[in-house]
Amino acid sequence: MAKKEVAAARQTTINAQPRIHQRAAEIQAYGTVSHGLPLELEESVRLEMTEQLNLLLADTMTLRDLYKKSHWQVAGPTFYQLHLLFDKHYGEQVEIVDEIAERIQLLGGISLAMAADVAETTRIERPPRGREEVPVQISRLLDAHQIIIGHCRKLSRRASELGDDGTNDLVVSDVLRANELQVWFLSEHLVDVPLVHAQDPGVRKAG
Ligand SMILES: [Fe+2]
Repeated sequence: MAKKEVAAARQTTINAQPRIHQRAAEIQAYGTVSHGLPLELEESVRLEMTEQLNLLLADTMTLRDLYKKSHWQVAGPTFYQLHLLFDKHYGEQVEIVDEIAERIQLLGGISLAMAADVAETTRIERPPRGREEVPVQISRLLDAHQIIIGHCRKLSRRASELGDDGTNDLVVSDVLRANELQVWFLSEHLVDVPLVHAQDPGVRKAG
């Protein structure tokens, strides 16, 4: 190595200064999949699956956040039990988000990540910033689950048709099943049964 080159190399390598504020062009554009992965899945299949999984991801991230909003803002005599239940479901949705996002990446795609991109993509209705009463909170959560469950049923069948068994398994075993169970736990709270006084059988018949 020439003296000049040695000096230049030393200048670039021996430097304790952090190189902050760096920017560069993206290494992969959103909506594309990388080529030549040894997965035995056509690029066209991976493109369709990653696009669909990103929709599922955006809706799941929105439902996850709706659970935290409900956890914080819940009010009334069932505060304690719902405060805990909403956070339990939030934690389960956090895990599902990670599983969907990493499935997209392993298929060679790019997962949505940032809130603004999620807000532009989700099909779930935006709630107000303020507090709402419990029946409305639960109804919003159930509506969000319904969108996700409907999508899971279509997406799992399509994944199976295309031979993407891994996506089919993820969508059915992890996303659909968890959402179905959470729907049960929520919907039982909207059954109008008396809390203290049993209803008079005569009144029930007349009704
Ligand atoms: Fe909390």
